[in-house]
Amino acid sequence: MSTNQLDKKSQAWSALFSEPMSELVKRYTASVFFDKRLWKADIQGSLAHADMLAAQGLISATDLAAIQKGMAQITAEIESGQFEWKLDLEDVHLNIEARLTQLVGDAGKRLHTGRSRNDQVATDVRLWLRGEVDEIGVLLTELQKALVDVAEQNADVILPGFTHLQVAQPVAFGHHLLAYVEMFARDAERMVDLRRRINRLPLGSAALAGTSYPLDRERVARTLGFEGVSQNSLDAVSDRDFAIEFTAAASLLMVHVSRLSEELILWMSQSFGFIDLADRFCTGSSIMPQKKNPDVPELARGKTGRVVGHLMGLITLMKGQPLAYNKDNQEDKEPLFDTVDTLKDTLRIFAEMAAGITVKPEAMERAAKKGYATATDLADYLVKKGLPFRDAHEVVAHAVKDAIAAGVDLSELPLDKLQAYNPAIEQDVYEVLSLRGSLNARNLLGGTAPAQVRAQVARHRQRLGGVTQP
Ligand code: ARG
Repeated sequence: MSTNQLDKKSQAWSALFSEPMSELVKRYTASVFFDKRLWKADIQGSLAHADMLAAQGLISATDLAAIQKGMAQITAEIESGQFEWKLDLEDVHLNIEARLTQLVGDAGKRLHTGRSRNDQVATDVRLWLRGEVDEIGVLLTELQKALVDVAEQNADVILPGFTHLQVAQPVAFGHHLLAYVEMFARDAERMVDLRRRINRLPLGSAALAGTSYPLDRERVARTLGFEGVSQNSLDAVSDRDFAIEFTAAASLLMVHVSRLSEELILWMSQSFGFIDLADRFCTGSSIMPQKKNPDVPELARGKTGRVVGHLMGLITLMKGQPLAYNKDNQEDKEPLFDTVDTLKDTLRIFAEMAAGITVKPEAMERAAKKGYATATDLADYLVKKGLPFRDAHEVVAHAVKDAIAAGVDLSELPLDKLQAYNPAIEQDVYEVLSLRGSLNARNLLGGTAPAQVRAQVARHRQRLGGVTQP
């Protein structure tokens, strides 16, 4: 087709079409205003394809040189904002190809030999997403490092650990933060794992059935850094499971961020008063002068809904699509782009915010003292004195009941009072009843003792060290 024809999409397909598309349908079917974001991957893919066509003798060396020159100019035009994106040309692929042909003539028209937009777009999205997954990996490392730093500074700080949001047992604040590091470490692992399945080359599948040209698919894969080539053309042009998988991993990541957000918000409220966030992550109120609101974690919690929504969108998009390519798949891009943008911004901002948390150890400890957080320790103490655990549990429940009635902590009950619950109780019980004693006692792998927190900090440091994602 001539440049002129490509310019007028109504006639672009073939002589088969006898009426032009309405403006509304044009707008409805076009994707250029969002998929132009894929331009770099599109050009990269085209250059690798052209290089292979030339190596296979399917286009001449002169054509290849012309294509390379034209693409260099197009790159410059796009980067400088001079490139004219046309709705009439539907998508990023046709826009770039049309401009290439305008610049270099017939060589441009030969680029599409043995290729379809179906395998082209699948290649572009994979190339682009692979790069984004790598960036997300780096950002996840940064966030984990920031949390590990705060955890180390707070290895000895006592926080009331909750279950059912009721004070349960004292934990080290550092231990609590490292729980999130574990979650983010698994998120990073998921990214590394799904990257392998993104990193397969669809080019060569053409529209759906492969192509009759003797393409060297392995060569293109090598040029583009793909780990392998797809093995079934119908599958390669049509499935977007890699995008769904990525969005699922992104959703889980955001769920972890959202849980952390919820805690930051609670901890910063006056009722808890455990932490303060730096002013630059908060906003004030237009009516209540005293307010400082944790907008950033609130928004992150909210944006989690948005990313999970994209997962629902993408997975539903796939459902019910017969093989092979269907235009439905054009709808994969906006949710995917928005997921990536939301994720990257959130990770960046959380790494900064974590580094700027002000911890209020006294408030945390005060809250831990209020909730009879060492009751289990007293029960364990009695077990070590020979009582069966169930009996010890019962004895301590009585002691707690009386302490609540008297408005004191277990550690404030005099020894003779405690001995009335069980004569085996001795002076050394007060060490057991202290928050710090409770913390130090949990000195096993995975436990909250500060010594364990420090060991975990060291392990994470080593793991996160200079190593970045592939
Ligand atoms: N813009 C399209 C997409 O995003 C490119 C592939 C179009 N292929 C086609 N046969 N119409 O999926």
